[in-house]
Amino acid sequence: MTRLVVRGVEIRKGYLDGAAQAGLIEALRPILKAAPLFSPTTASGKTMSVRMTSAGAFGWVSDRKGYRYEPQHPRGVVWPGIPEEILSIWSDVTGLERAPDCCLINYYGEDTRMGMHQDRDEADFSWPVLSVSLGDDALFRLGNTTRGGKTESVWLNSGDVLVMGGPARLIYHGVDRIRFKSSKLLPKGGRINLTLRVVT
Ligand code: SIN
Ligand code: MN
Repeated sequence: MTRLVVRGVEIRKGYLDGAAQAGLIEALRPILKAAPLFSPTTASGKTMSVRMTSAGAFGWVSDRKGYRYEPQHPRGVVWPGIPEEILSIWSDVTGLERAPDCCLINYYGEDTRMGMHQDRDEADFSWPVLSVSLGDDALFRLGNTTRGGKTESVWLNSGDVLVMGGPARLIYHGVDRIRFKSSKLLPKGGRINLTLRVVT
């Protein structure tokens, strides 16, 4: 496993081996069944290409009312709990006793991307955000803590874990594209990204 730091963001390449990655996909199955992926719309009315759902006490939603955390899936059910396998990645990598209360699950199909943004809907930015990449490779772009300026891109592969914390907690980031079907983890292709956050 190699550890890389890009603009203050820590990337642990290959943190999860193949078996651990497959185990996470199994753990996600019942969650996706209980709280199906949906396509959020932005406040301006655009539909995001990435589909999402969440686990935990809070889930991230976006619609005409804007971005926010909600205790329920848009269908009106509470979000499923965050699986133990995912919580243990958080505690191992961050060393924190406090557990995350949201696991956002993003699914990137063919031709999906995510524009540059900050993760700033949480109450306290002293907690890090941890992300887990599963499935197809993604070209991840890192900017600055203010909008604009020079950026740097890194490929994230299945099993990589990334931490945005400390001075890099509010760094702008996005996904330019994925290499569809570059991984065999998901039989139909695509990429799943998990982000763990402390919301309250
Ligand atoms: C996100 O910023 O919500 C997702 C990042 C990623 O897909 O790697
Ligand atoms: Mn983000």
